[in-house]
Amino acid sequence: MLQYACELSVLKEALKLRIMIDQEAILFLYQNGTVYAIKDRCPHLGVSLVQGKYDPEGGTVTCRGHGAKINIKTGTIEEKAHFAFFKLPTKSTTTYTTKIVDNQVFIEK
Ligand code: FES
Repeated sequence: MLQYACELSVLKEALKLRIMIDQEAILFLYQNGTVYAIKDRCPHLGVSLVQGKYDPEGGTVTCRGHGAKINIKTGTIEEKAHFAFFKLPTKSTTTYTTKIVDNQVFIEK
């Protein structure tokens, strides 16, 4: 079912927005005319990703917790979380299908 998320113009300006939908935090990311949506919980220890570093050109967001780098299209981990020299086990995260209709962003949930 498609659910309204936000106005496209607001996301375009912010590049990333955390929006609660069905009591779940979703991170919306704008990249070259396309909107991606991933669960706003790092798959390592659950830190919100909205304050992480977003790289629109590389299509990744990096968690501020322990540096896990997540692909925003697939939810896969491009770089595992780490502490000092140790790599920490990090699973992929959930992604969602988005749709833009009349300058409004919707999510399939
Ligand atoms: S909580 Fe995100 S990398 Fe550890």
